[in-house]
Amino acid sequence: MKKLVIAIDGPAGAGKSSVAKVLAKRLSYTYLDTGAMYRAITYEALRRGVSDEAAVTAMAETLTMDIFPKTDTMHVTVDGEDITDKLRGTDVSQHVSKIASMAGVRAVMVKLQREKALKGGIVLDGRDIGTVVLPQADVKIFLTASVKNRALRRFHEMKDNSESISLEDIEKNIQERDWQDSHRSVSPLKQAKDAILIDNSDMTLEGTADAIIEICKLTCDESN
Ligand code: DC
Repeated sequence: MKKLVIAIDGPAGAGKSSVAKVLAKRLSYTYLDTGAMYRAITYEALRRGVSDEAAVTAMAETLTMDIFPKTDTMHVTVDGEDITDKLRGTDVSQHVSKIASMAGVRAVMVKLQREKALKGGIVLDGRDIGTVVLPQADVKIFLTASVKNRALRRFHEMKDNSESISLEDIEKNIQERDWQDSHRSVSPLKQAKDAILIDNSDMTLEGTADAIIEICKLTCDESN
């Protein structure tokens, strides 16, 4: 099968990263977690005590971020330090939407993302991959699920990481992030016109991956 570029966009907790990893493994592709890149900038901004847009943008433009997309995980280093383990904490989660709404920060991230996708054979997940980063992607999926389902998934994920936060608070955080991500002026979260909508509220992870692989096969057949 041709080495495709697969773009998966959707709201927080829809299972984008889980399904992207399964797809990358099954297709022997690399996986690029673009949310982790915005999280890395947020982590650095919090660590350095930088918050206004001009200063955060200047930081993003000058620091050296390296991303190592592999099949099952993606490591992020900033100025040589691996900060992958720091990116999913509550503090970063609470501040990342604001940082991700900064146009200058997005410009730096989008450039890096496009470079990594050049050779194909890659699954990217995010909010604006099919609309802004790679509108020519071979396969575009808009993956979503009900707020209740998404909150429950995050709740179990956080319990596994021994973080204590109530389901109610997670649901609130998801609703706030949905609103912020889809109402920001720069690259808001929205379904691309030619993206295929999958609501996986009642689907398993493997079932979701199967559905996307079917779409990939159809795409390849059509281009032959
Ligand atoms: O997918 P995630 O929860 O790790 O994303 C973290 C934040 O980054 C989220 O608030 C949306 C934002 N984001 C974005 O604006 N554009 C992307 N391509 C990926 C993530």
